[in-house]
Amino acid sequence: MGRSLRTFAAYTQPFTVKNARHATTGCPFSKRQRSQIAPTAELSEEIFSNAKPYSEVPGPKPIPILGNTWRMVPIIGQFDISEFAKVTQHFLDRYGRIVRLGGLIGRPDLLFVYDADEIERIYRREGPTPFRPSMPCLVKYKSEVRKDFFGELPGVVGVHGEQWRRFRSKVQRPILQPQTVKKYVAPIELVTEDFIKYMENARDVNGDLPHEFDNDIHRWSLECIGRVALDTRLGCLSSDLTSNSEPQRIIDAAKFALRNVAVLELKAPYWRYVPTPLWTKYVNNMNFFVELCSKYINEALERLKTKKVTSENDLSLLERVLRSEGDPKIATVMALDLILVGIDTISMAVCSILYQAATRLKQQEKMAEEIRRVFPDPSKPINYADLDKLHYTKAFVREVFRMYSTVIGNGRTLQEDDVICGYHIPKGVQVVFPTIVTGNMSQFVSDPEEFKPERWLESDGRLHPFASLPYGFGARICLGRRFADLEIQILLAKLIRRYRLEYHHEPLEYAVTFMYAPDGPLRLRMIER
Ligand code: HEM
Repeated sequence: MGRSLRTFAAYTQPFTVKNARHATTGCPFSKRQRSQIAPTAELSEEIFSNAKPYSEVPGPKPIPILGNTWRMVPIIGQFDISEFAKVTQHFLDRYGRIVRLGGLIGRPDLLFVYDADEIERIYRREGPTPFRPSMPCLVKYKSEVRKDFFGELPGVVGVHGEQWRRFRSKVQRPILQPQTVKKYVAPIELVTEDFIKYMENARDVNGDLPHEFDNDIHRWSLECIGRVALDTRLGCLSSDLTSNSEPQRIIDAAKFALRNVAVLELKAPYWRYVPTPLWTKYVNNMNFFVELCSKYINEALERLKTKKVTSENDLSLLERVLRSEGDPKIATVMALDLILVGIDTISMAVCSILYQAATRLKQQEKMAEEIRRVFPDPSKPINYADLDKLHYTKAFVREVFRMYSTVIGNGRTLQEDDVICGYHIPKGVQVVFPTIVTGNMSQFVSDPEEFKPERWLESDGRLHPFASLPYGFGARICLGRRFADLEIQILLAKLIRRYRLEYHHEPLEYAVTFMYAPDGPLRLRMIER
């Protein structure tokens, strides 16, 4: 029996045993104890007293003085960051469904949890101010280096507790309201048409896109985010940019962030103690983004003074926030946060989705048929309600996220002691949900090695809703997810409607830079349909 793509609502429904779809047979962990604790149950004294001690959680043993950090050091260490996907899989194979990586110099223990039931329980009990450990560089930048600017309203990214809750509650409604998102269909369609023209011009005689096509995808996502967060066309898709032009500087700044934040955070964290040259560049780069946002927010503010407004619907996202909050700083910080996390995520996701479409022609044809059916006249503008009818196309994207989780995992720092997989875990531990692995585990997903978009449209088969959560879950769920979905759907609808994508080079391996994406030149071929 068919069903429309499970929406987020399906994930937020209260837990009932009836809804849970568990493996019962054929599971490598079939002998293991499932969590005996219901997702929302209070943890009783009895549960704590029956739990095994934290010290018994399995995991790689730290060596004296160097702890476990040495394992991440290139050459001497056994785990390379770009191999993170393999490392997390190795942890599961070697130690089981819960793994402790302790002894990391200068940071709390990491606890990897490979059990979708436990992940569900942790998410559902996380309280009103979940703590997602992330972006230590940004935390230092916002809370120390530019405390003068961010003050008491530092945004949502890298911010926690009451400060996070206050800021999120100011911007969440306008950002996530479908009526706001709907207003961006036409602007994103225009940006995407320009991008497709750009691609058409960039092709060689065979129709192959250039080696640096993944950079071009970044230009498109920058242009989209500029339209959404700054109410402007940044001009990043122009082909004749001079090195000192603003769009080129934006592209360079985004590229710098993409290439270096991972290095700073994962490979060279010495900036925590001394301002290294790379750290100084990072700060200058961030200052550039702050100035950029301030400039465009001031322009929007000026426009708003003379704009005729009869209803809220006449206002853009930015204008709504400017009007309702009356403080341009809030709009600036919101724009900055959206830009900081809204470029790489979507760009890498699109690299992955287009590569999968180009190497899975049968499924691409099914998408093309559906897109043609929903949008029979390519000259007519796209409308929001019709995008919702792209069930198979959305399921294709969901399946790419399941199999090749762009964001390798999510996490929470425990704010209270907990019992996870039968162990007493102290507060302060950073729990990692490695969706890159759990989305491919047979006890949570039937035939996980099969790329099968249909699984998201059918009601049979195993598909645990917490095994693959591309946008996270709960109060801290991705703030830009509606825009991300919109941008991806419009790109696929426009591109695949007109072109068949192919790939005729060496197969690309996936690797973790910061995100998980095909590693190497994405030389897709575009053939007119
Ligand atoms: C396919 C693309 C994207 C993916 C896979 C993705 C994924 C995620 C994930 C997993 C989180 C953490 C959620 C949690 O802790 O439960 C997150 C947070 C966030 N995302 Fe996205 N994201 C994407 C695109 C975007 C875009 C385009 C924007 C901006 C327009 C954006 C803005 C944010 C923000 C602001 C947060 C922080 C929310 C908070 O901590 O309160 N994301 N995203």
